Amino acid sequence: PVKQRLLVVANRLPVSAVRRGEDSWSLDISAGGLVSALLGVRDVDAKWIGWAGVNVPDEVGQRALTKALAEKRCIPVFLDEEIVHQYYNGYCNNILWPLFHYLGLPQEDRLATTRSFQSQFDAYKRANQMFADVVNEHYEEGDVVWCHDYHLMFLPKCLKDFNGKMKVGWFLHTPFPSSEIHRTLPSRSELLKSVLAADLVGFHTYDYARHFVSACTRILGLEGTPEGVEDQGKLTRVAAFPIGIDSDRFKRALELPAVKVHINELTQRFAGRKVMLGVDRLDMIKGIPQKILAFEKFLEENPEWRDKVVLLQIAVPTRTDVPEYQKLTSQVHEIVGRINGRFGTLTAVPIHHLDRSLDFHALCALYAVTDVALVTSLRDGMNLVSYEFVACQGAKKGVLILSEFAGAAQSLGAGALLVNPWNVTEVAKSIAYALNMPSDEREKRHRHNYAHVTTHTAQDWAETFVSELNDTVVEAQLRT
Ligand code: UDP
Ligand code: G6P
Repeated sequence: PVKQRLLVVANRLPVSAVRRGEDSWSLDISAGGLVSALLGVRDVDAKWIGWAGVNVPDEVGQRALTKALAEKRCIPVFLDEEIVHQYYNGYCNNILWPLFHYLGLPQEDRLATTRSFQSQFDAYKRANQMFADVVNEHYEEGDVVWCHDYHLMFLPKCLKDFNGKMKVGWFLHTPFPSSEIHRTLPSRSELLKSVLAADLVGFHTYDYARHFVSACTRILGLEGTPEGVEDQGKLTRVAAFPIGIDSDRFKRALELPAVKVHINELTQRFAGRKVMLGVDRLDMIKGIPQKILAFEKFLEENPEWRDKVVLLQIAVPTRTDVPEYQKLTSQVHEIVGRINGRFGTLTAVPIHHLDRSLDFHALCALYAVTDVALVTSLRDGMNLVSYEFVACQGAKKGVLILSEFAGAAQSLGAGALLVNPWNVTEVAKSIAYALNMPSDEREKRHRHNYAHVTTHTAQDWAETFVSELNDTVVEAQLRT
């Protein structure tokens, strides 16, 4: 049978490109969640459309990059610096991202943001049209087009305007906030209407889907049904599709000799101390300052633990051109420095803070040697780090402390210790509880999480979404 073609459209391609010369590029594939999810989908032939994360002003460079990417089944959308500034740094990451995570607009430049709002929204629409142009150029009849995330809320409408028959799905990887939050956006109606142009709209949790439907009923005055949103007889299906990970990939990594060597090294380096781990992009939503303050409180109240525990915080730099992210970096450094000064000794410090990313194998080794993982997101669409930690804990059966505001709390809630990350006292207590947890309770909690993570895979997620999208389109045809 011929495989169904799937065009996956996301702001960021799953490769990073580095220019080596006028017409030569080196590509680094990031085998993140989405990529492995889609590689595993049976009977589907997927291609990626997105931004390669670099500015390529010249035609020679663009041609060479397009050619190199084609080998990786990727198709680039070229965005110039001005568009990246207004669309990506501005509208996406300075407005939509904080708002969808209930953080409001950045405190200091609220008025400036308000002023630049319209020009940034215009750039957002223009950028979305540029993605649409590339999709249209590569689209063939029968293809499924799957749009991803808050960067591309305008895309479903652009695509349907071009070709009403295109099968279009849109999936949001962040929370969708309460309609009370969404209604503060000047572009609230336009965004909702363009998303509704899709045939199927998906979210990680039922709550996010419900928020979206109520935003459509309250703001647009449309009818919400158990199936989705209806506008003059036309239904847009809205549903929850919680993402998962490729847990086998993590389990396989732990069997590699090099990873085993690394695990041994780490175990020796931290012998006699319990290892606590945080892995986050350095983003406001991750609650990193709150996490570190809770750890400080724990050290304060439990002096007997001071030289027996270490917190490893991996903080991956992200969106570094956005001022709010720059401020966060210096804020975190200041807190870490203060606490290490306060509780450090000549030979050891309580917090190892790294401003960088780790390669996959190093990350797996870290997950495996961890006693307690600390995920304190103030809001988080799902949070895959919590899943990955669980997948690597088959031997150790460590404890997961997890924010109740992460989507993952809905699936790992019974196995993890759920906390309110804003309540530093509560998080400090949970740290003490986790470190002292008897092994039978640890194992029971771990078993619960492990069963979930290993049975709800990324592949199932992608397969379910794509088949639901196909079904939705067939049902719509039957109705008319
Ligand atoms: N990750 C990575 N390199 C690192 C640290 C983390 O590639 O040095 C990956 C991690 O394995 C996970 C992803 O980044 O798959 C983070 O996903 P999550 O859903 O936790 O948060 P997001 O960054 O999407 O907000
Ligand atoms: C979150 C978003 C993704 C985004 C990723 C990294 O997971 O949901 O769409 O790609 O963060 O952020 P960046 O801005 O570097 O693409």
